[in-house]
Amino acid sequence: MAGLAESLLKADFRKLYGSAEGVRVFRAPGRVNLIGEHTDYNLGLVLPVALDLATYIATAPSADGKLRMYSEFRKEMREWNAAEIGALKPARHWTDYPIGVARELLGAGLAIAPANLLIRSTVPEGSGLSSSAALEVSTALALLSGRAMDRLDLARLCQRAEHNFAGIPCGIMDQYISIFGREHAAVEIDCRSLGHRFVELPAGITFVAVNTMVRHALAGSAYKERVAECAAAVAGIQEKFPEVESLRDVSPEQLESAAPCLPAVAARRARHVVTEDARVGRFVEASARGDVELMGRLLVESHRSLQHDYEVSCAELDFLVDTALGMEGVLGSRMTGGGFGGCTVTMLRPRAAARFGEEMARAYRRQFQATPQVYACRPSAGAGEVRDSEEF
Ligand code: GLA
Repeated sequence: MAGLAESLLKADFRKLYGSAEGVRVFRAPGRVNLIGEHTDYNLGLVLPVALDLATYIATAPSADGKLRMYSEFRKEMREWNAAEIGALKPARHWTDYPIGVARELLGAGLAIAPANLLIRSTVPEGSGLSSSAALEVSTALALLSGRAMDRLDLARLCQRAEHNFAGIPCGIMDQYISIFGREHAAVEIDCRSLGHRFVELPAGITFVAVNTMVRHALAGSAYKERVAECAAAVAGIQEKFPEVESLRDVSPEQLESAAPCLPAVAARRARHVVTEDARVGRFVEASARGDVELMGRLLVESHRSLQHDYEVSCAELDFLVDTALGMEGVLGSRMTGGGFGGCTVTMLRPRAAARFGEEMARAYRRQFQATPQVYACRPSAGAGEVRDSEEF
């Protein structure tokens, strides 16, 4: 699994900080969500897969009271007095993610010891494959450096860091899957109970992510708007059905009966969430039966719902989906992640995968004059320490 880039991490740590004494390496993966989009903050169902794209952090104690972080991607070194982390404010900078995590750890009563960190990531930033959760979770593990923490608490803590420090009111999917991912399986997460089960995918299919290479500026503000629109939909539905606490509780019949009293936009948003939750259940059942045709159709239904009802797609994502659906061996395709750029996920026959990547790149270049990156989605293990024997 580890490429040369990862295996050189300790050597590079030594070059950067002068010594690799006591260095430990932690890994947290990115993810691709197969189905269940914008359902997590509505306490619904999601079905992500942890990827072999991951963030790796090498860390060792520092002797001078400083906390240092070097991002290879940004080619940037930052340092703070470890004792002053508790007083830091968001800086609208990549360090908001790791510092947000450090602050939350402090808030949970865990001291932040002076340390040097080297951050390397193979999760493409801004790709919708959850590079921020990978950074948060790997930072938390690096700062904990072996101190135990319940895994669900860890996911929640990283989610809080994103809320409080990066200012995004995200759901828990990305941090959860980065921690609970499993090789060869997708993970169905119930975002209300916060339980999960592993879903083995049928043989004879594979998933590929294609990166639009764009992230439109409104992604962050639109996300907050959608969260607020869902809350407005819940408030409207409660007038008729006071027992409803979130869109997860709303049945299709209740929605149909309440929709005429809701603002049109809120009704459409709610329709996406309610139908999407049902699609996750149907997808998992179809997967157990090996009904890959139905799985593919559900992916496409999910995309159309995100495109027309939830309105978080964009021209580049729609082009990738529509083009994929005309290609040989493709069973289904949809946008994945928050939307407004990032990636699509396509389910296809393994023998069609190589040709799919090449043809898609050609078609996308013709249309948008940019080369999309294509990633094989291999379900991988969740976050943890990387031991010498495994990779170094
Ligand atoms: C982003 C958020 C997740 C989730 C998805 C949409 O990735 O971080 O919590 O809401 O968007 O499904």
